[in-house]
Amino acid sequence: MSKKKVTKIQYKMIEPFGPSIMQGKIPDVVFKEFENCINEVLEKKQDNHGEALAGRIDDEWFIDEGYFRFSILGPFLDNIVSKYAANMTARAASNGMIGKLEVDLDGSIKTGINTTRVSGWVNSMRSGEYNPIHYHPGCNITTVFFFDDVDEEFIDDIIAPIQTNSFAYGKDVHKKGTTDDGVLTIFYNSNHYYEHGQWSIRPKRGDFLVFPAWLSHGVYPFISKKRRRTASVNYIVESSDQNLSFGLR
Ligand SMILES: [Fe+2]
Repeated sequence: MSKKKVTKIQYKMIEPFGPSIMQGKIPDVVFKEFENCINEVLEKKQDNHGEALAGRIDDEWFIDEGYFRFSILGPFLDNIVSKYAANMTARAASNGMIGKLEVDLDGSIKTGINTTRVSGWVNSMRSGEYNPIHYHPGCNITTVFFFDDVDEEFIDDIIAPIQTNSFAYGKDVHKKGTTDDGVLTIFYNSNHYYEHGQWSIRPKRGDFLVFPAWLSHGVYPFISKKRRRTASVNYIVESSDQNLSFGLR
């Protein structure tokens, strides 16, 4: 009998502020399929999503649902979103924040989590483009997938290099690949004592994020000959348990 090969998805739940963010690595086999998919979408340029999005980005294109439904991508996406929702449920339950939650015989929480994919799209940002602070309406959980590193090789020039070099904390503190150029920042609130209100990630090829769609986020511009490609897929996550909600769409 042949053994079924199981690919374990690597991820961690991080808690820089209120809600957790899932940060993980796209498995190689999924990444290959996903990159082929976004390259095809970028090449075909069939369904422009730019008008519906906040981004100051020329290349924003819808990903047809068929790409997800008829490939490994759909199950992968459903999987990470359900896992995120289950982890958030477990976190709330461990803090006593959920009342009478149904529990299976083995003690695990019976969440009855139902995930519905709403839409997906590709952003291919080029030098000088940016994505102002925005959130994703019409859904409650969102995802981001990174296809390019934003490192010192990616950044040709730092934006405002003179200012950067005279930064109050010392000269050369902010070098190429360490500034916020091309970085994604997620905003929760203003900074408080002992608490950060924002969290940033410098894109790495193959990384993904899952987080509540209502969290504001944005991408700073950068100067590079290369493209900064990402995909994002929105979900509506619901539970059959009346004590549990993942938020309105
Ligand atoms: Fe977004």
